[in-house]
Amino acid sequence: QNDPLVIFTPSGKRGHFPNGTKVLDAARQLGVDLDSVCGGRGICSKCQVQPSFGDFSKHGITSQPDALSDWNAVEERYKSIRGLIDGRRLGCQAQVNGDVVIDVPPESQVHKQVVRKSADTREIVLDPATRLYYVEVEEPDMHEPSGDLERLSKALAEQWNLPNTTSDLRIMQHLQPALRQGKWKVTVAVYQGKGLGEARIIHVWPGYYEGTIYGLAIDLGSTTIAAHLCDLQTGKVLTSSGIMNPQIRFGEDLMSRVSYSMMNPGGAAEMTTAVRTALQALVNTVAAEAIIDPALIVEAVFVANPVMHHLLLGIDPVELGQAPFALATSDSMTLWASELDLTMHPSASIYILPCIAGHVGADAAAVALSEAPNRSEDLVLIVDVGTNAEILLGNKHKVLACSSPTGPAFEGAQISSGQRAAPGAIERVEINPVTKEPRFRVIGSEKWSDEDGFTEEAGTITGICGSGIIEAIAEMRMAGLVDPSGLIGSAAQTGTERCMPNGRTHEYVLFEGDGTSPRITVTNGDVRAIQLAKAALYAGARLLMDQMGVDEVDRVVLAGAFGAHISPKHAMVLGMIPDCDVEKVTSAGNAAGTGARIALLNAAARREVESTVRQIVKVETAVEPRFQEHFVAASNIPHATDAYAKLRA
Ligand code: FES
Repeated sequence: QNDPLVIFTPSGKRGHFPNGTKVLDAARQLGVDLDSVCGGRGICSKCQVQPSFGDFSKHGITSQPDALSDWNAVEERYKSIRGLIDGRRLGCQAQVNGDVVIDVPPESQVHKQVVRKSADTREIVLDPATRLYYVEVEEPDMHEPSGDLERLSKALAEQWNLPNTTSDLRIMQHLQPALRQGKWKVTVAVYQGKGLGEARIIHVWPGYYEGTIYGLAIDLGSTTIAAHLCDLQTGKVLTSSGIMNPQIRFGEDLMSRVSYSMMNPGGAAEMTTAVRTALQALVNTVAAEAIIDPALIVEAVFVANPVMHHLLLGIDPVELGQAPFALATSDSMTLWASELDLTMHPSASIYILPCIAGHVGADAAAVALSEAPNRSEDLVLIVDVGTNAEILLGNKHKVLACSSPTGPAFEGAQISSGQRAAPGAIERVEINPVTKEPRFRVIGSEKWSDEDGFTEEAGTITGICGSGIIEAIAEMRMAGLVDPSGLIGSAAQTGTERCMPNGRTHEYVLFEGDGTSPRITVTNGDVRAIQLAKAALYAGARLLMDQMGVDEVDRVVLAGAFGAHISPKHAMVLGMIPDCDVEKVTSAGNAAGTGARIALLNAAARREVESTVRQIVKVETAVEPRFQEHFVAASNIPHATDAYAKLRA
């Protein structure tokens, strides 16, 4: 081959191209990731490249601008108006002029890697369902009459290979002024999803639109609703915010909300209105925090457990409260934001991930997307710890799923001094096994209290949160203050005055209280509540292990906002999870939220999760007799085996 050799970095893709070939064209032919919004017109500057010269450059190219033939007028104009970093060229203008190595800087890569997975280094590429396209539209001609919309569609087909775009009245109402104001050049936002038409024009801006468009990833939990606002052109999370789910006033946990709906005519509709109102407030909050117009939010992705999923959609969840726990639909859904009474962009779409089963929702599907057990060589147990634990067990050969009714104790509810994780809550606890004296740390403070108890530095104490109570009870067990059956000993039995009578049982005084902070104790009722919750979690995991025919797992991933704060050691001491090398227990943070973000930023991931969910085998704990057996066996601390002894050794 006599044509010059062109090598792109960092991809390493290479090919021979005749002199005069535009760099953007060479990149496209080789499948190199090089961005372009304006279609090579020297307007968007997304296509910037940087010629670099290794040993490879045998043509003695020495000056940056000359590396890829001379600057052309379009580039000169661009540089004089907007500036261009030294050494950079516009890929749509620069031409090949001899062998060259061309670096594509990260910001010019369309498929930027933005989401990092916890357990390995799999990264997610940016390829959202809604993207911007700059087009030049033919002017109307009396002799060849056709509508402005038809000429816009033709331009999208010819210039961006987007045939058969559709639109609606909202577009037509704004199209004519936009085309004329932009002098027949416009930027178009096109949604390409499975539903709502294959390629739908959702907005038209006159000329080149300098701004960006946004998407929301929303994790709709029973207790909290979390939203991440993302820039759909860079994948960056601009702001994250959360609010309490106002449905709590209808019932603390899922089943009490289903009961509310059964007992009260119109109850489901009330809960639907409550959650939609809260979602709108959350949309407005994140937009205000990022200082953007909510009308620029063009998409949202939702993940939710089945009851929340149905209530969001305005479907009565009554069928989910009784066997056979039938979902109205388990498929993914694409709908208009306006159908959920959400005000953002008028043509904004909503994508809801598929549900796995009647008790294993789109949130678990999102965890499966984010943690990808179906790609794992190891047998991995993933527990998404919340009011209802959702559990996945599997590897690349098979994935099983179930849910387990842990109740809200892990979130600090049903605990005498319990509270949600917020500043002032005790979140970390240590008990000296010799003196039996505690030290602890509260959320919002860097410092631990000292062994004499509370100090100013430890901050003001308001209660104890889920991770705090787990650590407290696990530490009490290790210090011999509580026996395997969950009974707290007396002062005489334990050798500490901190164990005091409380009715017919005892309590351990973690903090005596002072003028500003209340007394915090761990009662036998608290231990009992945590025992029940952890036994449900453990029994669910064991049930899946039985079904898989294994006695142990290779690794454990703790997911959920709460899972992020549980110490693996204490979870093991308490017997929340099956025995496993403590090093192999990791936290994935809010994996459901991460899954929602992946589905927002990568349209192909939606197809991936839809196919993964179809392959997951569901196990129904409620009708499985062995669940009950495991539950009883798991009520002891830790459970039948003696994991804590191993840890102490
Ligand atoms: Fe838009 Fe080059 S592709 S400036």
